[in-house]
Amino acid sequence: MMKKYVTTAIPYVNGVPHIGHAMDYCLADVYARYQRLTHNEVKFQVGTDEHGNKIFQKAKDLGIPVEEYVAGNSKKFEEFIRTLDISYTDFIRTTDPDHERRAQEIWRKLSPYIYSAKYEGWYCTGCERFVTEKECAENNGVCPDHAKPYEKLEEENYYLRIADFKEQIREAIESDKMLILPEFRKREILKLLEDSPDVSISRPRAQLTWGVPVPDDDSQVMYVWIDALANYITVLGYPEKEISDFWPAAAQFVGKDILRFHAIIWPAMLLGLGLPLPEVLISHGMVLSNGQKMSKSIGNVVDPMEVLEKHGLDAFRYFFLRHIDTFADSDFTWEKFEDAYNNELANDLGNLVQRLAALAKKNEIGLVATKSELPQEYCDLMDKFEFSKAFDFVWEKVQGLNRQIDEEKPWSLAKNGENQKLNQVMNDLMNELLLVSRMLEPFIPETVKRIQDVFTNPIAPPETPLFVKQ
Ligand code: MSP
Repeated sequence: MMKKYVTTAIPYVNGVPHIGHAMDYCLADVYARYQRLTHNEVKFQVGTDEHGNKIFQKAKDLGIPVEEYVAGNSKKFEEFIRTLDISYTDFIRTTDPDHERRAQEIWRKLSPYIYSAKYEGWYCTGCERFVTEKECAENNGVCPDHAKPYEKLEEENYYLRIADFKEQIREAIESDKMLILPEFRKREILKLLEDSPDVSISRPRAQLTWGVPVPDDDSQVMYVWIDALANYITVLGYPEKEISDFWPAAAQFVGKDILRFHAIIWPAMLLGLGLPLPEVLISHGMVLSNGQKMSKSIGNVVDPMEVLEKHGLDAFRYFFLRHIDTFADSDFTWEKFEDAYNNELANDLGNLVQRLAALAKKNEIGLVATKSELPQEYCDLMDKFEFSKAFDFVWEKVQGLNRQIDEEKPWSLAKNGENQKLNQVMNDLMNELLLVSRMLEPFIPETVKRIQDVFTNPIAPPETPLFVKQ
């Protein structure tokens, strides 16, 4: 048994969860459940990123005390994560006093690599990111993601000396010691790293009040990303506690928009602390709505609760994990979703369970369970984080079982009184279905539980179909 630590990006709480946030959670959950299936012990962090001007301003606009505002939205994220049946072990809020104290300790430990200098340049509050002159010029002074002009800043800041770690980071990425997936993002990051300047890691208190105070300097507050990235180890108790049981993380899941923070600033922090780098950084694509980024102003935001209420949790997980590409941007459309629901979940899997259980019940066949290993091909795909391909592999088995029933015709064996053969055929089919269901467990755990309940002696078809066709 090995210990595996899996992490997700912690969302800003300047709004409520939307369908895109599900991506980090669902992918990390598949990984975590698969690790448990293969008998490893998993620590699984989720949480909320609660500092920074973007959040402070939103609370102010709404006339709600900021502490109250972040607490309310953090609860909504926690509820969302639970509704998705994410098997997390730890929920961290960056306003937790333990986190704040530990973030300050981390700052102190990094002090040999920190210096103070004047920052003159651009900033996007939407991204909470310092923007280079070159990037500002390329975008004509307007952030493409937030459609807002960059702000001009002239302020005294602390900087982290990225230059001290560049070589080590480059070597770790090139050699895959810190594996970046997918491969094309790894190349993008290597390019970005070449030109990466030292990063500003604080803001003057006059510009930012809602953040973790810089230790020993009342005039400065930590840049939100420094405090946020630290969450991955403060949640393990660093620096008071020994974290080597779970650190380095086996897998860190982030969206492609924030990979740069995780592949450059985060490794620099870790190297400065003398800690090993994460084993894998997985950067997923964006969920789009009719080909466009979801945005409240365009009015194309899909409410995850609407999807969940309409078709249930596993339909949601099924669609996100099989039909939304892990790495490329993919569209969510109701049409695609309903197609997948009716043709695949209801027709392929729902019918298979129904047919097999009905045949077993009618012919009074008991299950003699045999235990078999997970197929190597499935494990290889899962180990390479090719989750949607692994899901495809399992689905072919589901369809194969439907075909096998048609070919073996258990009803004819029953009619002809070939009872021994019937028993054998049915047991082979049921055991194969149970193996398939084990492979499905990381993806659609609720359905798998129901399948396993159905195929416990005495076998009886589910009282309500697994998926009701719409
Ligand atoms: N607070 C930072 C993360 C700090 S991690 C130390 C942040 N928050 S966020 O709310 O903007 O995004 C949280 C996660 O959701 C990120 O991984 C981001 O990529 C992901 N997504 C946000 N919108 C998304 C889609 N439309 N589609 C897929 N993922 C999306 O960044």
